[in-house]
Amino acid sequence: MAKEKTQYTCNECGGSSPKWLGKCPHCNAWNTLIESVAESSAPAKNRFASLAKTAEVTTLADIDASDVQRTPTGHDELDRVLGGGIVEGGVVLIGGDPGIGKSTLLLQALDSLQRSGQKTLSAAGPPQGAKAPSGGSGPRAAGQRGGTLYVTGEESGAQIALRSRRLGLDGSQVSVLAEIQLEKILATLAHTQPAIAVIDSIQTVYSEQLTSAPGSVAQVRECAAHLTRAAKASGTAIVLVGHVTKEGALAGPRVLEHMVDTVLYFEGDTHSSFRLIRAIKNRFGAVNEIGVFAMTERGLKGVSNPSAIFLSQHSEPVPGSCVMVTLEGTRPMLVEIQALVDSGGPSPRRLSVGLDRDRLAMLLAVLHRHAGVACTDQDVFVNAVGGVRISEPAADLAVMLAITSSLRGRALPKGFIAFGEVGLAGEVRPAPRGQERLKEAAKLGFSVAVVPKANAPKKNDKTFEGLTIHGVDRIEEAMELARNLG
Ligand SMILES: Nc1ncnc2c1ncn2[C@@H]1O[C@H](COP(=O)(O)OP(=O)(O)OP(=O)(O)O)[C@@H](O)[C@H]1O
Ligand SMILES: [Mg+2]
Repeated sequence: MAKEKTQYTCNECGGSSPKWLGKCPHCNAWNTLIESVAESSAPAKNRFASLAKTAEVTTLADIDASDVQRTPTGHDELDRVLGGGIVEGGVVLIGGDPGIGKSTLLLQALDSLQRSGQKTLSAAGPPQGAKAPSGGSGPRAAGQRGGTLYVTGEESGAQIALRSRRLGLDGSQVSVLAEIQLEKILATLAHTQPAIAVIDSIQTVYSEQLTSAPGSVAQVRECAAHLTRAAKASGTAIVLVGHVTKEGALAGPRVLEHMVDTVLYFEGDTHSSFRLIRAIKNRFGAVNEIGVFAMTERGLKGVSNPSAIFLSQHSEPVPGSCVMVTLEGTRPMLVEIQALVDSGGPSPRRLSVGLDRDRLAMLLAVLHRHAGVACTDQDVFVNAVGGVRISEPAADLAVMLAITSSLRGRALPKGFIAFGEVGLAGEVRPAPRGQERLKEAAKLGFSVAVVPKANAPKKNDKTFEGLTIHGVDRIEEAMELARNLG
C-alpha cells in the first residue's frame, strides 16, 4: 500500500508542521505535536463540490430508528454492564490491570456468542435479506453475521488455544487472527464480516501510515478511529482491549474514551479471586453498573449475589464495623465499612481504602463539631471490605458510625445497617432510591436500620418485614440511637 504523507499537528492550537518539533512553531506550547495522516490537498473547488453532494437533512421523525438490537453474551454479569448485551456496530473499550482476566472474559464471551449464533442459525435457517435502513446497505443483526473473530496482538494463536482448552471450551469455533497491522485487520474484518470482533489489544495495533511506534498516542488514536469507523459502517461490534497506566487510567489518548460507545473497567484485588467490571460510559445503557465475577481455574464465573462477598464473616458483631447499602448502577449491594481508631503520634494519620480521603477528613470534622466525638489525637483508618470502591456520599453515616464504634470500643448491634449522606451542618440527607436499599437489607436478614428520615417508610408500611427502621434528621440523633441500641 502506498504510504500516505504524515504531518505533525499541535494538540493545543491545531497548527501543523512537516516534522516533529519539541515546541509548536505556532503557539509555542511544548511537546504537543502528534503525528497524523495528512489530508490529501484536493483543489478547494472540488472539495466544496463533494461536500454539497453529500449533505442531506432529514427530520428525526423521518429516520427509521428501531430500538437498538442487543445480543446477550450469555454471561449475565457482563450483559448487565453492557446494558443488556452487545449492540451491533457498537464499540466497547475494556481496560484493566495486567493479568486481571480481560482476555479470559472476552474469549469466554466470544465462545458463548459463537455457540448461540450457531444455534440461531440452525434454528432459523440462513439469515433473511437484511432490511436495509434508508441510506444504504445496513448492518445485519449481530449473532446472524459471520460469527466471531478474536484478533490477538499480544499472544500467539497457540496461547489462545491453550487458554481455551484450560477454560473447557473444547471445540470452540471462535476464529483467531494473530495480527497487529491495522490495514490487514481491517481487510480481514471486511472479508469475514464477523458479528463481533475482539482486538486484544489496541496498544499493539499499528498503522502503516504512521511512523510512530505501536502504542504511541498517534497510533492508538488513528487505529481506534479506523476500527470505530469500520464498526459503524459494517455493523460488526468491536471490543477493544486497552492497557492501563500505572495510575490505573486507560493508556493512550483521552479522546479514545470519547470515540467509543462503551467504556468498561475491569478491576479487582489481585489477592482475591473476585473481579468487578464497571461501566464508566455507555451510550446504550446505564453507567456505574457493575458486574461481579469470580476467577476460577475454569475462567470467570458470574456472581449473582455479590452482597455476601463484601461482608466479612463475624459470628458476633465487632467494634468498628458498620454495614451499609450502596447502590451500584441499578443494583443495591451490602458493603461492610470498617474503621480503626487508634492513638496516634504528634501528627495523626487519616487513611482510607475504597473511600474518598478528603471526605473522611470532612466527616471527622462534622463528627467533632456536631456530635462531640473528637479524634484529633487519633490515627483513623477506614476500609471498605472486599476491595470495593464507594464513591457515593450515602456511605457517610456508616463511616461515622464505624469510627465512633471503634473509638468507644463498642460494637453496633447484630444485623445493623446504616446509610445516608451527612452535610457540613450535621444534617442527614436522603440517599437516592432508599426503598430499594432497605429492601435488599431486609432480604438479607438485617434487623435494624438507621437511615435518613426522608428514606424511612411510613409507619404502616409492611414491605420491610423484620427490619426495624429508624429515620434520623441529624447526626446527633444517629449517634444517640447507635449508643442506645449498641
Ligand atoms: N491455571 C489457572 N488457574 C486459575 N487461574 C488462572 C490459571 N491460569 C491463569 N489464570 C488466571 O488468569 C489470569 C490471566 O488472565 P488473562 O490473560 O485473561 O488476563 P489479561 O487481563 O488478558 O492480562 P494481560 O493484560 O496480560 O493481557 C491470571 O492472572 C490468573 O488469575
Ligand atoms: Mg490479555
